[in-house]
Amino acid sequence: MEKTVKIAEGIFYVGVNDRDTHLFENIWPLPKGVSYNSYLIVDEKSVLVDTVKLCKIREYLEKIRQTLNGRKLDYLVINHMEPDHSGALAAVAQTFPGIKIVGNKKTVEFIKAMYQLEADFYEVKDGSELDLGRRKLKFYLTPMVHWPETMMTHETTSGLLFSGDAFGGFGSLDGGVFDDEVDVNYYEHEIRRYYSNIVGKFGPMVQKALQKLSALEIKVVCPTHGPVWRTDPGRIISAYDRWSRYVCEEGVVIAFGTMYGNTEKMADFVARALADEGLKNIRVMNTSTVHESFIINEIWRFKGVIFGSCTYNNWIYPPLENLIINLAHKGLPNRVFGVFGSYGWSGGGVKGILEHLRKNSWSLVGEPVEVQFSAKPEDLEKLKRLAVDMARAVKSE
Ligand code: FEO
Repeated sequence: MEKTVKIAEGIFYVGVNDRDTHLFENIWPLPKGVSYNSYLIVDEKSVLVDTVKLCKIREYLEKIRQTLNGRKLDYLVINHMEPDHSGALAAVAQTFPGIKIVGNKKTVEFIKAMYQLEADFYEVKDGSELDLGRRKLKFYLTPMVHWPETMMTHETTSGLLFSGDAFGGFGSLDGGVFDDEVDVNYYEHEIRRYYSNIVGKFGPMVQKALQKLSALEIKVVCPTHGPVWRTDPGRIISAYDRWSRYVCEEGVVIAFGTMYGNTEKMADFVARALADEGLKNIRVMNTSTVHESFIINEIWRFKGVIFGSCTYNNWIYPPLENLIINLAHKGLPNRVFGVFGSYGWSGGGVKGILEHLRKNSWSLVGEPVEVQFSAKPEDLEKLKRLAVDMARAVKSE
């Protein structure tokens, strides 16, 4: 029997933690798990807001039953159809007969296509309301944040926003559920990793959604992952605003691929030269050992990126190329980049990076530096110049 977590009078957290899944969406590492947040509103009518991944169904249903304490469940609001939130939909519908599923036209289409489920649907449009008795829910369609059916639900009496994936991120909730109970710096970092890798491609749609939300009174942000923001909801809303406008900070990420350490030595040399120029935010990241989601997270944050590659099959070192290809899919604008690399008997690494980056809007800083096997004193001079140029390019005016 677990202690019920109360968000407001008659509103409860009934989410679960998943510390078993290694890869979110079978791609993104979960070193500290993830929470699937779900909320239960008990009013004259009772409403469940979003569900959880099916793997946690027993624990989840037990929490709902315990919190309902014999009451009927009238509605299930589906803000987002990705299976980490809709996975338990059919089980909930079966457990609570007579329940109405609340979603928009696209949600209904997706439910039928994904689960072949015929249910009692309550279809809403942008701005539709649902009266629960003392409380009222209002629905806002926020397409492509990050699926086409995504919407948010605003509880108008206490100012709670059930925001779906928006404002949420990786990391299980280890005891603390609210922003004032957890290390928010850790969660904010992981929320940006979630944002940059999963939602970031849709920055203009996030901006549209934020514009729509700007007229609402939002006292508490209740996302489907990570902490509930009751003390400082503005912190995560303004972070989302910055990230979706591609605002960057002063700093440089050096992402390198190395086979025998020569390119890594160049990366360390450039990093030291950047520090000599007064930069404090420098991240040196090995694409063979650090998952690209962590590197993309840092690149989303900082203005400068320097790619360093050894040559492999006359081309870029494959793990670094994967990073560059995936970055291109995100459509991140407004960054500056530099390039260095090494080769044995014919070049290719530096050329490959330049060919990839030619296709996006980033600006090349300094002269690319390519060395045979290992950097000589004259190469180090060139790397030093690259670092000086990069430091100048990223420093705030
Ligand atoms: Fe948390 Fe888009 O799923």
